[in-house]
Amino acid sequence: MLNIAVFASGRGSNFEALYRAIGKEKIQAKIVLVISNNSSSGILSLAHTFNIPAFHISQRQFSDPNLFQQKILETLTSFNANFIVLAGYMKKMDPVIIRAFPDRIINIHPALLPKYGGEGMYGMNVHKAVIAAKEKESGATVHFVNEEYDNGAIIGQKKIIVDSNDTAESLAAKVLTVEHELLPSIIKLFSEKN
Ligand code: GRF
Repeated sequence: MLNIAVFASGRGSNFEALYRAIGKEKIQAKIVLVISNNSSSGILSLAHTFNIPAFHISQRQFSDPNLFQQKILETLTSFNANFIVLAGYMKKMDPVIIRAFPDRIINIHPALLPKYGGEGMYGMNVHKAVIAAKEKESGATVHFVNEEYDNGAIIGQKKIIVDSNDTAESLAAKVLTVEHELLPSIIKLFSEKN
């Protein structure tokens, strides 16, 4: 069984899509906990609605960064998490966590990597850059997480067409729709291999 920990910093729509798909499509996976670095993030309240344990754990709560990582590891262990999904998590994953979950941490990114990834390429910055470059297509990528932003091996992508009248906002909405399909489909694959 895939016991998933979702890490996020924001609204949590990918978490919600994944949670609903697991139920609807009977995917052999369970979201066992949610961790957010942001106490006011939507994902924390969504998790409460779905009765999923949710924790605000932030570097700011610890004077020693090692204790922060230790807290994350302890929390993951106490819920038997064996797989991590980053869904809009705005912090770099620490090497200690990456080493503890080899090939078991994935991230969803709102562009067709390797283009439009890396430091600073998050949220609307990505979509503005795609529009500015007059790309004909964009989409979503799920990839393994390594120690560099958006740099791990690509697992899957889903494309959308960029129309000439698309704005960064309309593009973000289109890409989000395919994110909500891509992430559950990748989790389904992992659940079948598990
Ligand atoms: C998504 O666009 C995801 O690709 C990116 O951050 C956004 C998170 O959205 N990494 P949400 O919090 O899942 O709604």
